[in-house]
Amino acid sequence: MAETKKILRALAGEVQAVPPIWMMRQAGRYLPEYRATRAQAGDFLSLCYNPDLAAEVTLQPIRRYGFDAAILFADILLVPQALGADLWFVTGEGPRLSTITQQSDFDALKPVEDIHETLSPVYETVRILSRELPSETTLIGFAGAPWTVATYMIAGRGTPDQGPAHALREGNTALFEALLDRITAATIEYLSAQIEAGAEVVKIFDSWAGSLKGDAFQKYAVEPCRVITQAIKARHPGIPVIGFPREAGEGYVGFAKATGVDCVALDNSVSPDWAAEHVQVDGCVQGNLASSHMVTGGQALVDDTRRIVEAFSNGPHIFNLGHGITPDADPENVQLMIDTVRSR
Ligand code: CP3
Repeated sequence: MAETKKILRALAGEVQAVPPIWMMRQAGRYLPEYRATRAQAGDFLSLCYNPDLAAEVTLQPIRRYGFDAAILFADILLVPQALGADLWFVTGEGPRLSTITQQSDFDALKPVEDIHETLSPVYETVRILSRELPSETTLIGFAGAPWTVATYMIAGRGTPDQGPAHALREGNTALFEALLDRITAATIEYLSAQIEAGAEVVKIFDSWAGSLKGDAFQKYAVEPCRVITQAIKARHPGIPVIGFPREAGEGYVGFAKATGVDCVALDNSVSPDWAAEHVQVDGCVQGNLASSHMVTGGQALVDDTRRIVEAFSNGPHIFNLGHGITPDADPENVQLMIDTVRSR
């Protein structure tokens, strides 16, 4: 049967006059209905681990906007928690975790086989979604890339320059690599379980890939993404993988070939014309619109949206933002972006 889902068609390499569209963090605080469900759950982590409510917030932006994809509602930091790290969120500040700075911290982590005990509610969310989503909507599962997840596990929080993770990488390379290997193995199991529960595509978020340079980028961004992608494709033939080595710059060039991902997600620091020439030559691309437009709106949003659609119109393309939508965004601007893409 010919594939009817627009996202899956783009991931298979089809060029479409109107590209499919979804948005990073599309279920989030800019939506009043999200804030209401989050309040009902109590807090963010309780929402992630409540399959009915997590499915509900995943469906909210689909109902409101009719996006072509739904992304599972969860967080990349559930994997560290499943490996035994303490995790909590400080309102207005972000995540906090117990830190990994020495061998004994690493030795206290749980084995990979144990992660499902913590993560099984997430698989239940996926099962609910695969029953409830409209037939034209693609369900995307996800995980953080090992480097990005490690930056949080090492520092115990988000850091502007990933300094603590770079320090461990240089000061105790064996421990750093053992941690990356543990996260890589856990990520393969986690994504596999999401696919078994009904995820049709998986995305690997490497939000801090841009702080790895040269050889380190190859070893700790490209290589783990390759290992995960190959394992997923061996176990689940035909499942497309999206890679997001955010702020990789020149590192975007050849990333799809080197890792085997079917699509490269782009941040908004690269020009769409450059990316069409140097990245889209290897296959599907996604992203690139500055998420600040969702706050400011107006003609500039329309112009940039058109410019991106135009630049990528000769190859497979999924329209998206360059990073997640922020809580101060105006839901009306999201509609304006969608109307601009779809009126093409
Ligand atoms: O995109 C989606 O709608 C799916 C759900 C999703 C969330 N986080 C929900 C979330 C996804 C795919 C993520 C990925 C994620 N989480 C990343 C990679 C992508 C990126 O943004 O770079 C990272 C680095 C995290 C870790 C994380 N989670 C941080 C640093 C924060 C705090 C910052 C913030 O935005 O508040 C979170 C919290 C988080 N994850 C929220 C949501 C909707 C906001 C929490 C809330 O409701 O209070």
